[in-house]
Amino acid sequence: MEYRRLGKSGLQVSAVSLGSWVTFGNQIGDDVAEELMVKAYDAGVNFFDNAEVYAHGKSEIVMGNILKKMNWDRDTWMVSSKVYWGRVAEPKPNQKGLMRKHIVEGCHAALKRLQVEYLDIYFAHRPDVNTPMEEVVWSFHNLIVQGKILYWGTSEWTAQQITEAHLVAEKHHLIGPIAEQNQYNMLNRNMMERDYLPLFSNYGMGTTIWSPLASGLLTDKYFDGSATNEKTRMDLMVWLKERALGDMDKVEKVKKLYELAKGLDVPLAHLGLAWCLKNKNTSTVILGASKVSQLEQNLKCFDALPKLTDEVMTQIDEILQNKPVVPVY
Ligand SMILES: NC(=O)c1ccc[n+]([C@@H]2O[C@H](COP(=O)([O-])OP(=O)(O)OC[C@H]3O[C@@H](n4cnc5c(N)ncnc54)[C@H](OP(=O)(O)O)[C@@H]3O)[C@@H](O)[C@H]2O)c1
Repeated sequence: MEYRRLGKSGLQVSAVSLGSWVTFGNQIGDDVAEELMVKAYDAGVNFFDNAEVYAHGKSEIVMGNILKKMNWDRDTWMVSSKVYWGRVAEPKPNQKGLMRKHIVEGCHAALKRLQVEYLDIYFAHRPDVNTPMEEVVWSFHNLIVQGKILYWGTSEWTAQQITEAHLVAEKHHLIGPIAEQNQYNMLNRNMMERDYLPLFSNYGMGTTIWSPLASGLLTDKYFDGSATNEKTRMDLMVWLKERALGDMDKVEKVKKLYELAKGLDVPLAHLGLAWCLKNKNTSTVILGASKVSQLEQNLKCFDALPKLTDEVMTQIDEILQNKPVVPVY
């Protein structure tokens, strides 16, 4: 396993980590969740990602039970939670958002569900335009001072909002966010490769990137026929179209990437994951898996890194036609 520093902190995170969105407490049984975590931990994964909203809190309960059962040394793994959306489907006032009340109560509830004394990283799952930035930054800072969380981060915040958080932190000598958790994959590049660049250089922000395979779109199964047992061909195209955000052009591009991966003798998932890892601003790629075999395959993605030569990276850009233009002033 390769380890990377999480932003400017000395904290080391495994280059691939494991997330639980849609799977734990929902799509998969608790036995599969346990097998996934054990497989990941044994391969050197040291970061498990979670959130209050995942399966309405059940995802954290499942993960907490596994962490307790495995009894791995606490200093060998990290667990996160995320606050914003709330735990219930229809949150009442203050059950959702980044006001101090919900940040603090959300933290207490996550600690209880995960059965841990502290969260390693606590993310603000989205920005909250209704709460002043001072209140947000002070709330996370105070949780750190109280020992309930070790670090805090943002998720899907704009570069402007993250900058504001750092300016507030600097002004009051508070601890600012260590990492952003953003979507990054071959189909979604702008934030990571353009908008966040000043955050990496000015504030040393790390990134824990999500949906590296565009929720499974960047895998062989939709093109090699192996998924047709699960869905009819028609369903498949509709589903693919939805995952590609209604853009059939994207599906065509992914087909070309599949052919390119085949030519390199690697699964498309390896191409997609290794491509994310090639970006030096990627601290960790959060994997999702509904089957143990998927995780087993994805943990081997490092094998594809040497195949991503400059020439292959150019070929990928030519297929994607979405390389962000970085303004130079
Ligand atoms: N902060 C945020 O707002 C946010 C948002 C989303 C996710 N996240 C985090 O990021 C994690 C990863 O996101 P993600 O689950 O969307 O990641 P992803 O890697 O893009 O998609 C994972 C899904 O793709 C399919 N898959 C994975 N490997 C495969 C393989 N080798 N072959 C075939 N299918 C494969 C599986 O779904 P199927 O088997 O069902 O097709 C799997 O659940 C989440 O668990 C969560 O912790 C954060």
